Amino acid sequence: MAFEHISVMPKEVHDYQNLSPGDLCVDCTLGGAGHALSTVRAILPGGILIGIDQDNDAIANAKKVLHSYQDNVRLYHNNFSDLPRILADSGITGVDSILLDLGFSLNQLTQSKRGFSFQKNEPLDMRMDIRNTLTAEEMVNTYTEKQLADIFFKYGEERFSRRVAARIVKARADAPVTTSGELADLVAGAIPGKSRAAQKIHPATRVFQALRIAVNQELERLETFMSRIPDMLKPGGRISIISFHSLEDRIVKQSLRSFENGCTCPKALPQCLCGFVTTMKVITRKPVVAGPEEVKANPMARSAKLRVAQRV
Ligand SMILES: C[S@@+](CC[C@H](N)C(=O)[O-])C[C@H]1O[C@@H](n2cnc3c(N)ncnc32)[C@H](O)[C@@H]1O
Repeated sequence: MAFEHISVMPKEVHDYQNLSPGDLCVDCTLGGAGHALSTVRAILPGGILIGIDQDNDAIANAKKVLHSYQDNVRLYHNNFSDLPRILADSGITGVDSILLDLGFSLNQLTQSKRGFSFQKNEPLDMRMDIRNTLTAEEMVNTYTEKQLADIFFKYGEERFSRRVAARIVKARADAPVTTSGELADLVAGAIPGKSRAAQKIHPATRVFQALRIAVNQELERLETFMSRIPDMLKPGGRISIISFHSLEDRIVKQSLRSFENGCTCPKALPQCLCGFVTTMKVITRKPVVAGPEEVKANPMARSAKLRVAQRV
């Protein structure tokens, strides 16, 4: 059986991708393969979809979902930061469309048994790619109190990062913290009752986000990928990126802007002397967000932001 999935902003993504039959496209984050299915249908006849995910479960799922289109699909179990190499190895010098729908899938959250959810009691793993060796359990049990506090603050923007880290270090002196349920209880216990009551989200939300980002090196991988965008698109080709929190969105926004206007000359100069050449044009001046009906049907869409840019 294929994953249960709900793709975010399917119509908006489809419209901005601006696909035509015969196009060469990449879906860097297959997940439940909903966007991939709509993409491959839009590029027939003759188009090719390159599908990537670092989670092998997503690749297995995509094989099923995209089975009827297998002649038009190439699947890669890789990190999307490897895309330049994947394209070069295939002799491809540019594609018409690239899609990134960042973060984790519904399947990872609810079915993977890898401890992504604070609402379940599962092994504290959080690796999207199980070929990597570093797990959340290892981080939580071996990193210093300062390292943990820094991770919770930097990647989770957790106000009580130091208190949470101190609570974890105290608990692990008795016995290692090995499950998502134990960690969620420790975090909830470290956050003052008044703040806990005032929060709309579960008290462990930020710490779980921070650990997931750190375990999977999500921001570093995104930065590496973003730095290569213009090299991977044909002139007129588009990149569409959905992000789910401000740390990701900032990287996306700043990278796209730097390709559009990265001139470093003083403003007073009458003309550019630094040699900057515009390679991308941002199409979405403001990020596109999901409409109220979609948010009602799929609460995960609430924080989604779509940005699109075109190769000049
Ligand atoms: C939000 S889901 C994608 C959902 C998908 N667009 C759909 O329609 O069902 C995100 C997926 O991206 C994958 N992913 C996240 N970061 C990745 C990376 N750096 N490289 C490859 N895959 C990544 C995750 O494993 C997950 O399967």
